[in-house]
Amino acid sequence: MKKEDLAALLKDMSLEEKIHQLLQLGGQFYAEDTVVTGPMKEQGFTEKCIGEAGSIIGVMGAEKIKEIQKTYMEKQPHHIPALFMLDVINGLRTIFPIPLAQGATFEPKLSERCASIAAKESAVSGVHVTFAPMVDVVRDARWGRVMESPGEDTLLNSKFAEAMVRGFQGESVAEEYKVAACIKHFAAYGAPDGGREYNTVELSDHTLYESYLPPYKAGIDAGSELVMTSFNTINGIPASGNRKLMRQILREEMEFDGVLISDYAAIEELIYHGYAADRREAAKRGIEAGVDIDMMTGVYISQLGELVKSGEVKEELIDEAVLRILQLKNKLGLFENPYKDANAEKETKYILCQEHREAAREMAAKSFVLLKNNGVLPLKKEGQKIAFIGPYAEEKNLHGAWSFLGDSKDTITIRQAAEEVFAANQVTFAKGCPILEEDIKLEGFGEYKDEIYSQKEKENWLTQAIEQAKEADVVVLAIGEHRLQTGESACRADICVPKNQLKLFRKIKEVNQNIIVVLFNGRPLDLRELETHAAAVLEVWFPGTEGGHAIIDVLTGNTNPSGKLSMSFPYCTGQVPVHYNEFSTGRPHVPGRDKDRFRSKYLDIPNAPLYPFGYGLSYTEFTCGPIQLDGNQLNQQGSIKACVLLKNIGKAAGTEVVQLYIQDVSGSVVRPVKELKDFQKVTLIPGEEREVSFTISEKDLRFYREDMTFGSEPGLFRVYIGTDSNTENQAEFTL
Ligand code: GLC
Repeated sequence: MKKEDLAALLKDMSLEEKIHQLLQLGGQFYAEDTVVTGPMKEQGFTEKCIGEAGSIIGVMGAEKIKEIQKTYMEKQPHHIPALFMLDVINGLRTIFPIPLAQGATFEPKLSERCASIAAKESAVSGVHVTFAPMVDVVRDARWGRVMESPGEDTLLNSKFAEAMVRGFQGESVAEEYKVAACIKHFAAYGAPDGGREYNTVELSDHTLYESYLPPYKAGIDAGSELVMTSFNTINGIPASGNRKLMRQILREEMEFDGVLISDYAAIEELIYHGYAADRREAAKRGIEAGVDIDMMTGVYISQLGELVKSGEVKEELIDEAVLRILQLKNKLGLFENPYKDANAEKETKYILCQEHREAAREMAAKSFVLLKNNGVLPLKKEGQKIAFIGPYAEEKNLHGAWSFLGDSKDTITIRQAAEEVFAANQVTFAKGCPILEEDIKLEGFGEYKDEIYSQKEKENWLTQAIEQAKEADVVVLAIGEHRLQTGESACRADICVPKNQLKLFRKIKEVNQNIIVVLFNGRPLDLRELETHAAAVLEVWFPGTEGGHAIIDVLTGNTNPSGKLSMSFPYCTGQVPVHYNEFSTGRPHVPGRDKDRFRSKYLDIPNAPLYPFGYGLSYTEFTCGPIQLDGNQLNQQGSIKACVLLKNIGKAAGTEVVQLYIQDVSGSVVRPVKELKDFQKVTLIPGEEREVSFTISEKDLRFYREDMTFGSEPGLFRVYIGTDSNTENQAEFTL
């Protein structure tokens, strides 16, 4: 539809019809047998607003969506099509690794490809918008949703934000098999006090701008059509009513002119925050902040009409919100074709097709991080008896949180993959113990079923596991968090491996020293015991549909692991939050000088995380030579080339992630001890060496200075180039 026709349409709509465009309702309202009863009535929902709601959340399936859309448009006074939106975070039916795992690939291009596949499966299923990517910077492993973010680093999250938006949207959302992306959650939802869900966020403006906002900006600059508000407060004002955050920062400074959607019921929650006295004030606060869509509450549709009639809210505010929504529908081509790519035959053809499975398998294998290996890995294909033990050895559901659209019947388990590779007399399988011990209850999680087993049953599992471990040359111990212990409202005050599984580990250790731990988790965990006593530890996160294949690919050396942690693994819960790009402090602790009492350190644990950001081992070994700079004076227009010689001195081909960090030694505000500025993945065969070079320019040195202007400052800079954030391989230059 032409621009002027959109304006004419808007002009022709009644106030009530316009306000209904700002409402988003769940698919359950559009089932044939829906009647507006009790709670719905209280929310202010009427048959009319249901029939005219601008968007619908939580529906998938070509035929179903086409049917709803057809009926819906017939009722619509102007036959305006509805938008169908869904949480497709890491895949629709082909489930990819959780985003925290994707961050560990340090390969945004791969995530772009996976997002493109997710978009295709979503589009043929009738979906128009996905509520992804989530790009919140995360530094607190207690928070349940760290699994949904690429990680702790501002630059890395920015690269993944860009890539995923491009993957979902392509050059234009009108293209076939593309959906609109929604950058979330704006802003700084990943920094709640105490790592507790929905909790207060207290950040200085400086930290907000320097560390938390850039990934959202990167996603917006990549063209994200939507942004979603966050549940938390910023500077004491809930994001969904925060005019400074939304009008000044998001719309003016970041130049975002797309659709701003509230998170689920977040407009009404302004009341519970204590930022609105009632629904009327909540509606006023939300629309004045420029929130266009009220997700799943009746606040807007029950209050805005009166507010406009009384003159408290200008109708222009409604019009601008409606116009953005109509423009999004228009960009998607819905006025010409309200069904876009919905197509049942293509659903059958593309969903979980071999090409998609192969992409999921590749992404999973590349997301695994080898944390420890005393040489026990890779496994031998013959002549080795392998006992696969643990609750994940045969577990079908290897999907992370937010993968509810996937069906675990499609997942390849470790056992299935192992039996494809090893002779039957080489391998045994035993559960050993349940994923959780009885006293951990995950009430309220719809799909959670109490795993109550008799003492006898559990003893049998343990006995069988120990017997098999005794007979085996090596044990692959597949353990980890329950998938429902991570994700939204799944925060943990103790980030331990479930204690019943640690007991299993100790029992197995008594009879077999060669334990390879394969770890399933959605957050960094306290791995001290495993680090000390296991022969190897492979971090596999929640790897998705092709998890079993990818795990066996890596365990057998078919794929040499190359993942690097995108979030630090704390020494223990007490160290949280911990991240590599910290400030020095006035009394920095110098490792090894623990006798110095008055230093910034703990009495009882080290300052360093157990595994640092950027860390990950390989089956081969790389050396990174000293840094060569082609100059040590950088001016505003120039650049400096920084090179290292990377060599594969091991026996297997492998891929290394060479990371470039920079420290601004002193500035008008304190600067992090290191900041990731660039990275390159390099694959070398044994004996091969290659020069890896980076170009540094003045723009790489810019930051929010004391006066909050963004720019560089002259002075001394240190360059670090290495294979994790602990690298001491350094050189200096001055600007
Ligand atoms: C949830 C999440 C958000 C999601 C939305 C719709 O509460 O915070 O990320 O997109 O509701 O499901």
